[in-house]
Amino acid sequence: MACIVAPSLLAADFLNLEREIEMINRSEADWLHLDIMDGVFVPNISFGFPVIEQVAKICTKPMDAHFMIVEPQKYIPEVKSCGVFQMNVHYEACTHLHRTVWAIREAGMKAAVTLNPHTPVELLEDIIRDVNMVLLMSVNPGFGGQKFIENSLNKVRRLKDMIVCKNLDTLIEVDGGVNLETGKRLVDAGADVLVAGNAVFRAENPEQVIRDMKKLKN
Ligand code: DX5
Ligand code: ZN
Repeated sequence: MACIVAPSLLAADFLNLEREIEMINRSEADWLHLDIMDGVFVPNISFGFPVIEQVAKICTKPMDAHFMIVEPQKYIPEVKSCGVFQMNVHYEACTHLHRTVWAIREAGMKAAVTLNPHTPVELLEDIIRDVNMVLLMSVNPGFGGQKFIENSLNKVRRLKDMIVCKNLDTLIEVDGGVNLETGKRLVDAGADVLVAGNAVFRAENPEQVIRDMKKLKN
């Protein structure tokens, strides 16, 4: 099965967002990854619901939304009404993660839990059965264009072992510094979904990069 490719809109040309989304629509990308930042959980602010609502009007790919915000549970109904199919919340931002995960699922979305680079995958032991996907950050969240943290490969392997041992079908998504080179090593380690911002949107031929990325796993 080919890997799932989710270009991150954060690296797009925001003055030409319509053109960028049309490129994604034409491409072989599977999902569109949206990064929402609040300036509290992470030291940056990106975009919020008014932008997502407009993007949703023209985007034909399922929207995978990554919330780098405190108290993400407050926004579950708005996220659902924007047409997002999967809501990623940070382990580090959710005091009552189990409740939040089930509120996301009960709202009719897929639920994913996201881990910062320093958070061990072993902490997922008692929540992994409740989530559809785990998003492993391979950079510290907040900015695109950062260097891939090598230890992420080790985390992907350990998480894959946990999923296989429990006989689950949980997806592993990786986000941050992913390009064709790091992407290849990640899929070999067990990653199912690759998020790529700069590697796609700043490429000379973004559609070709997406096509090549999809072929990393076969
Ligand atoms: C970082 C975001 C990423 C970011 C990835 O906090 O979660 O999705 O856009 O950008 P690249 O692929 O350029 O590292
Ligand atoms: Zn992201």
